[in-house]
Amino acid sequence: MKQSTHEVTTGAPDRAIVVSLAVKSERLSDDAVRHSLEELIALAESAGVDVLHSTVQSRDAVDPKWFIGKGKVEELRGIAHELGANTAIFDQELTGAQVRNLEKALDLKIIDRTQLILDIFAQRAKTREGFLQVELAQLSYLLPRLSGHGANLSRLGGGIGTRGPGETKLETDRRHIRNRIYELRRALQEVKRHRALQRERRKKNGVYQVALVGYTNAGKSTLLNRLTEAGVYAENQLFATLDPTTRTLKLPNGQEVVLTDTVGFIQNLPHDLVAAFRSTLEEVNEADLVLHVVDSSSEMKERQMEVVDEVLRELGAQGKPRITVFNKIDLLPDGGADLLTADGESLRISAFSDDDLNALKAAIQQRLIGDTRSFRIPAGRGDLISLVYRVGDVLEQEVDGDYIRFGVRVKRNEFDMMGYSLQPFAADEADRQEGETTER
Ligand code: GTP
Repeated sequence: MKQSTHEVTTGAPDRAIVVSLAVKSERLSDDAVRHSLEELIALAESAGVDVLHSTVQSRDAVDPKWFIGKGKVEELRGIAHELGANTAIFDQELTGAQVRNLEKALDLKIIDRTQLILDIFAQRAKTREGFLQVELAQLSYLLPRLSGHGANLSRLGGGIGTRGPGETKLETDRRHIRNRIYELRRALQEVKRHRALQRERRKKNGVYQVALVGYTNAGKSTLLNRLTEAGVYAENQLFATLDPTTRTLKLPNGQEVVLTDTVGFIQNLPHDLVAAFRSTLEEVNEADLVLHVVDSSSEMKERQMEVVDEVLRELGAQGKPRITVFNKIDLLPDGGADLLTADGESLRISAFSDDDLNALKAAIQQRLIGDTRSFRIPAGRGDLISLVYRVGDVLEQEVDGDYIRFGVRVKRNEFDMMGYSLQPFAADEADRQEGETTER
């Protein structure tokens, strides 16, 4: 079972028809249905499938037996035959019974959205952790679909290019799979423990951690490469990255921080997959700063940003300090002048511009370490002097007549929370007021 999960076949590519069902009561807009279907086609193509035909059926409800209507099944049978397709890919999740019925009626291999995504993850996994996680997700998806239908399972789960547990499941039974799931969970626990130790070590050494998150294809790997000159796989394929890749990033002040790439998000990310990848995504929870990378050139960027927000919420990481990085502005005619976020913490960049990368590094430094500010405080104001020590690290102090001048590296959160009483004593402000008094 283990090997089959990431076995890559060398045969001819699958030739597929792609099918979506718009259920009227769900009230999805035509645009939403179309975009989801386009994304499914892009996913299929990135898995090496030839997409020959796509279609949407609109219906009042799902047909429990066929998922789509019986008439549509007949129609698709004709089309598939004419085009020489061997696979049908559905944009929604199917039940085991629907897969079997459709398989028989259409005489095609049937794959649903979840299975396609799991397959792509299986194709792209690069580390031991990635393999373990994908296999766990695939088996968790398969298990409830197994019950009582052993003989029919040779094709269910067969997957794109016939990877995945589908290939070996004839020899397996539920107990077998349960045991394997148990083994995988234990192995992943071990990996997780190891990762936690590494993280603790970095934390102990006071190293800041920055996590890159974003919808798939937003440009995270490219940024990780360009910011750190690491040789990470970046390609114009969905989900090029499966495993977090951690590199050292040097900030403009010379300080080194750790930058971690994470798996790309996608809408309707299968639940089993989110569960399996939880330990990878937990890197995000441990980060001091999250960089949310957005493909500004995508027509669907708002929806993609929402999906990322949803996953971050699910991970409990929504409150993390965050910078939204609007990437790929080189592809926009106006450079993305109108791109903004509600919290205003955003930057517009092209990953290919050195100036933009330097601006991003400066923003990371600013957010993590804060600004250096000076204050000129009356020597008798012990309350303000102690506040100066609370809003940051005092780098220097010197007596200046009846005042004390402080050079402070201000911590942004602390300063935002309690620094307002220090505003009038900012050195520039104090000097300006003094100048005005002298002029008068
Ligand atoms: P996943 O691994 O799928 O999550 O993708 P990712 O977010 O890591 O994206 P990746 O870095 O692989 O980039 C996807 C594609 O976008 C590649 O073809 C990059 O060359 C391209 N790309 C990244 N940044 C930019 C940019 O600023 N401008 C342009 N024009 N293309 C970019």
